[in-house]
Amino acid sequence: MASIGQPIDRVDGRLKVTGRAKYAAEFAVPGVVHAVLVQSTIGAGVIMSLDTAGAKAMPGVLAVITPENAPKLPLKGGAQMARAPLLQDMNILFNGQHIAVVVADTLERANDAASLVRVQYRHDEPITSMDAVLDQAYIPKNFRNGEHPADSMRGNPDLSFSAGAAQVDATYVTPMEHHNPMEPHATIARWDGDQLTVWTATQGISSAQATLAGQFGIDPKNVRVICPYVGGGFGCKGSTWPPATLAAMAAKIVGKPVRLVVTRAQMFTSNGYRPRTVQKLRFAADAQGHLVAMRHDGFTQMSLPALGEFAEPVGLATEMLYDCPNVAVTHRLVATNASLPTYMRAPGLASGNFALESAIDELAVALHMDPLEFRLRNYAEIDQHENKPYASKALRACYQQGAEAFGWSRRSHEPRSMHDGKYLVGWGMATSTYPTHRMPASAKVHVGANGTALIQSGTQDIGTGTYTVMSQIAADTLGMKVDRIQFELGDSNFPRAPVSGGSMTVASVGPAVLAACEAMREKLLDLALSDRRLGWQDLNRDALRLQDQTVVGPRGRVSVAELMARQGQDFIETTSSVKAGDEAKRYAMHSFGAQFVEIRVDADLGEIRVGRCVGAFDAGRVMNAKTEHSQLIGGIVFGLGMALFEETHVDGETGRIVNANVADYLLPVNADVPDVTAIVVENDERTSNPLGAKGIGELPMVGVAAAVANAVYHATGIRVRKLPIRIEDLLV
Ligand code: MOS
Repeated sequence: MASIGQPIDRVDGRLKVTGRAKYAAEFAVPGVVHAVLVQSTIGAGVIMSLDTAGAKAMPGVLAVITPENAPKLPLKGGAQMARAPLLQDMNILFNGQHIAVVVADTLERANDAASLVRVQYRHDEPITSMDAVLDQAYIPKNFRNGEHPADSMRGNPDLSFSAGAAQVDATYVTPMEHHNPMEPHATIARWDGDQLTVWTATQGISSAQATLAGQFGIDPKNVRVICPYVGGGFGCKGSTWPPATLAAMAAKIVGKPVRLVVTRAQMFTSNGYRPRTVQKLRFAADAQGHLVAMRHDGFTQMSLPALGEFAEPVGLATEMLYDCPNVAVTHRLVATNASLPTYMRAPGLASGNFALESAIDELAVALHMDPLEFRLRNYAEIDQHENKPYASKALRACYQQGAEAFGWSRRSHEPRSMHDGKYLVGWGMATSTYPTHRMPASAKVHVGANGTALIQSGTQDIGTGTYTVMSQIAADTLGMKVDRIQFELGDSNFPRAPVSGGSMTVASVGPAVLAACEAMREKLLDLALSDRRLGWQDLNRDALRLQDQTVVGPRGRVSVAELMARQGQDFIETTSSVKAGDEAKRYAMHSFGAQFVEIRVDADLGEIRVGRCVGAFDAGRVMNAKTEHSQLIGGIVFGLGMALFEETHVDGETGRIVNANVADYLLPVNADVPDVTAIVVENDERTSNPLGAKGIGELPMVGVAAAVANAVYHATGIRVRKLPIRIEDLLV
């Protein structure tokens, strides 16, 4: 029976829950010593002097590395080569910037010595608020890797806005947020001559290999990156951040393997964040409820440009989600004294759709129209931005099935019209979407003398189920049970695969595993056809199949092990590299969803409690019903965090993050998470990629924040246009 689609348990689940899965910091590398980071305590300025004598004099201290004595790195190629956090100069660009690395024989001694590093600064005044310098916004140089213009326009939205029967002209704000995966960033680095090995927590071993090679000016072949397990990433492990480089630098200096684990507090300035956005929307519709104008001007918080560039593509969905002839989208960056922002689960879409889907709700209210009906009336049958048909789009079914399961038809239109005892009840909804990405990938299959298969690909499993789903793809293609497949990943010696980001792992690596296993199947069947003792020479491959490590034909069967033994083969290997065809040129490819939320508001206290969440999703073909469900409900919970809890607070004077811990940085806990229902609207199309999976990691959170905000309006009549929505927003 085919395993794809089945709700099978994670193949690495037992290893994880029994603590036997080894994460980066847990590898027992003999002779390892410990490095800790020292970070700046001012927001802008220059280091005038560093006193490291006290730290160096401590027992067990092996090195105190500062910008004064750090080796100059070649820093060749690529982004993320910011100099200051790599101890390459004395500039302070943000509060919490790395300014020293202390290495000692134990972690305690390294921490103790680090507390003795004394720094004299020249203090400059940091820019701590993007809102204060919005007028200095600039156009991103490298928007979406330079593949898309930062601004787009069709028709004349400004002219059409003025003519609209209903108008929304409003500003929406989303805060700085941090990923806070359970596993912190961690690296063990070891040099063997000019060969560097790093065990590091990363969503991209190949990019880590390339980045480290470029930074140290060595051949990527001399860098091996190992990362079999990742304790969550959500985007903050998608780039190679300075702590990994500093661990390798320290290892070189002390001539021993070095372990560097970033503390939870240091995580807030070491590896990016979802930047604050200010989004100005001007939408209009005609009296019949058709959108006539959409303008979405997005401003995103940035670091100083010296650290790199990251722009949230907040207008991505505005360009394509609805049928509208006049649409303008702009993206601008606002430099502040903060660390470099980065991708965070559903980058662009999560922040952008809060604004987009709130404004759509506001227009529906202005037109006295049901918000779902309004969306259906403006349903886009083609992608008008790219002027292409969708490879597939089951959004209408998502709306229908989600609404049905939620009971949307029982909603009363007016705000403050639904009650449950003393609570105001609000029902809100919003649309989700996320692009379907695919990148080149490769995989190798090895079938050994016992007929079982080992498959290797240099991909990652960031908790999403890569081990499991790839094993299923291989099992079905090779006619084996999943437990006969061993799938290995997380080693840059394996065939190359892309970063585990952008919800693209199954769509990218899956086809490589499929192709390598198909090539293996052909080899095994050919082996049977050419075996003289079987006498099957007159048959062709189609007459044979693989089942339970056995070649089965019309005239009998032979085990793969026996076949290989007879032909004197100890093993057979196949490797395949695959990439997308021209489908992205011909089709717009996206996943879709519809989110429905019920909240209760205590009218006296302003407290918001989420009652129910229903999401219905078209993410293509289901690969594993269990890991898919887990991703869907996890994404909805992530969205609830965005809606009601998460916000990084920055001190306006110093630029210091004041809630750099997971007690004060609020995340949803079990008591905050209601009844969550995820409905899969299966849509098995093979246009986007040969497996038909459209990507599911980010989609389920995209519409949640707007659905909550829309429910808050429905409950209270108060429109909250900034996240997270707080009690004080409702006590007006
Ligand atoms: Mo994701 S934010 O592309 O890891």
